[in-house]
Amino acid sequence: MLQDQRKILVTSALPYANGPIHLGHLVEYIQTDIWVRFQRMRGHEIYYVCADDAHGTPIMLKAEQEGLTPEQLIERIGASHRADFADFAISFDNYHSTHSPENRAVATLIYERLRDGGHIVKRSIQQAYDPVKGMFLPDRFIRGTCPRCKSTDQYGDSCEVCGATYAPTDLIDPVSALSGARPEQRSSEHLFFRLGNFENVLKTWLEEHELQSGVVNKLQEWFEAGLQDWDISRDTPYFGFEIPDHPGKYFYVWLDAPIGYLGSFRNYCDRTGVDFEAFCGPDSEAEMYHFIGKDITYFHTLFWPAMLKGANLRLPTNVFVHGFLTVDGQKMSKSRGTFITAREYLERLRPEYLRYYFAAKLGPEIEDIDLNLEDFQARVNADLVGKVVNIASRCAGFLTKRFDGRLSATPDAPELLEAIRAAAPSIAAGYEARDYARAMREVMALADRVNQYVDRRKPWIIAKAAAADAELQAVCTTGIAAFRLLMALLKPVLPRMAAEAEDFLGGGALTWADLESGTPALAIEPFKPLMQRIESEQVKAMTHTGTEAPPPAAEMAAPAVPDMDPIAPEISIEDFAKIDLRVARIATARHVEGADKLVELELEVGSVKKRVFAGIKSAFEPEDLVGRLIVMVANLAPRKMRFGVSEGMVLAAGPGGSDLFLLTPDSGAKPGMRVK
Ligand code: MSP
Ligand code: ZN
Repeated sequence: MLQDQRKILVTSALPYANGPIHLGHLVEYIQTDIWVRFQRMRGHEIYYVCADDAHGTPIMLKAEQEGLTPEQLIERIGASHRADFADFAISFDNYHSTHSPENRAVATLIYERLRDGGHIVKRSIQQAYDPVKGMFLPDRFIRGTCPRCKSTDQYGDSCEVCGATYAPTDLIDPVSALSGARPEQRSSEHLFFRLGNFENVLKTWLEEHELQSGVVNKLQEWFEAGLQDWDISRDTPYFGFEIPDHPGKYFYVWLDAPIGYLGSFRNYCDRTGVDFEAFCGPDSEAEMYHFIGKDITYFHTLFWPAMLKGANLRLPTNVFVHGFLTVDGQKMSKSRGTFITAREYLERLRPEYLRYYFAAKLGPEIEDIDLNLEDFQARVNADLVGKVVNIASRCAGFLTKRFDGRLSATPDAPELLEAIRAAAPSIAAGYEARDYARAMREVMALADRVNQYVDRRKPWIIAKAAAADAELQAVCTTGIAAFRLLMALLKPVLPRMAAEAEDFLGGGALTWADLESGTPALAIEPFKPLMQRIESEQVKAMTHTGTEAPPPAAEMAAPAVPDMDPIAPEISIEDFAKIDLRVARIATARHVEGADKLVELELEVGSVKKRVFAGIKSAFEPEDLVGRLIVMVANLAPRKMRFGVSEGMVLAAGPGGSDLFLLTPDSGAKPGMRVK
């Protein structure tokens, strides 16, 4: 062990369960994952937990729009988030949901302790109410004319044209974005958390911890402006946890979201026997860190520590804030094609290219980082392929061909290997301080030195000389041993490539301790290229909008993991027998007025007819569907959707959008036949 073993709990912010993971999100998950993998390599006891943030009005409304229950929506999005994170090698120890029994239990506990401690007050407030929808409207769901510049169709809290901010009551001719009705002002009782009670607690927390300077400045501004009570309740209808002693009122999503960190960890501890109290209890000696984006600093550096203190739980050791991602210098944008989802990226490029690029750009401060697509391609090709992999590919072949893969006991340039080992503490300090940019610069400077060494010693020339065996073996051994150390240094950033290198090198899993000890007697496996160059077409294809097909597979670097949803948990044959699958004929098909995704189908199943709303509009024209034989779930309980009742489900494969394939029986099958 290099130093005393630390106990560490780490989180990344919980992504909302109403949309896909995109490259902006990935800045955070990659930043956190590199830190966590580094600490694991150092032998510390560290747990990395996260969850989907599943509550709130936008999720409730989105589910309604798609004809789903909120539970169905968050289930589906949760599965896609998990798959995206797994494919980017984000190594959560636990990924949970805020809509979980554990989170309800921790939220209730915290709320009750805050209430009993006198930190919750009640007060009636006036709010916009949509009489048609029968619900209170968040500011974002009210639109109208800006009171300052008179631009029409502006949000209830700010004008996108002139930048004015105002109260929704200041809007001229306000309408509900949900129903178009004119909102009424209604009053309702809300619960407030008295943040001001914790001013001293927060000031002490600030003094005793080394927060980033940008965070310290923000906090000081907020203290000067005065700490306001925080509205933590919402009226029904709302998707969230009902407040135990206030039926019809729900916890505001931002109350139970950070609590979700503890809910997820609780779930992990219950499954594994790890001691929850040792990490989260008031006397915890463990470290707890939250990685977040700058937009959610207020929630994590004011409300969250105050809530924890009020509930007699430990406070965060630190909150690590990062900046925002821009693409080619601008905010990500759908119309420019730079709003790139995790999945769109993975269809074309290996995750580790992006992990490396972000690492090379991420520093310890709250600065925005830019993904410049040309620079991305050039940097990855030059550094990873041109420098690191190049060392192995120039030395491995001779060892395999001439020495059966065996390395010599005495390398040719031990001082070169020593120089790499000597740089390890400084690179470790870079990782520890989240100054990955510095760590990557130092690693690449070492890789440059190794390449210069190989250039100078020219194994390809030595190989031609007679009786130069020992020298050739010693020079190539130096190259491979150096490559091995560099891979250990890069392993937090490039875990998959490091795993492939471990297989090739045959010395077991690389740890930080390998950087301290001498080179083991290795025998290498035949070298396979560990990483290909990024081609321009791959990068261009990623930013193309519309439905252009991705480049043919041969042009792409082999994806590390096949692009597939994870297989669902096992079911029994009895479970399967409950599903009545039938061949059906599409008798009629038509567009559904006002629905983005749905086609209304009339299906003949033998003598029975069923009406089904299928979410396949993005892939099919109704007229092309009529007459087709398909497979359907015939005994699905009817579901009431916004446009009518749906009485079954049509089976299709594929990720969705225009990439959707209906299941069709072989010719000869007849409508009504059971599919078994
Ligand atoms: N659900 C809240 C967080 C609750 S944490 C208790 C939320 N979700 S989010 O999906 O909008 O964002 C998740 C994280 O990704 C946040 O830390 C956010 O700052 C970060 N990012 C979202 N877009 C980003 C960029 N374009 N660039 C960098 N980080 C970004 O906020
Ligand atoms: Zn305006």
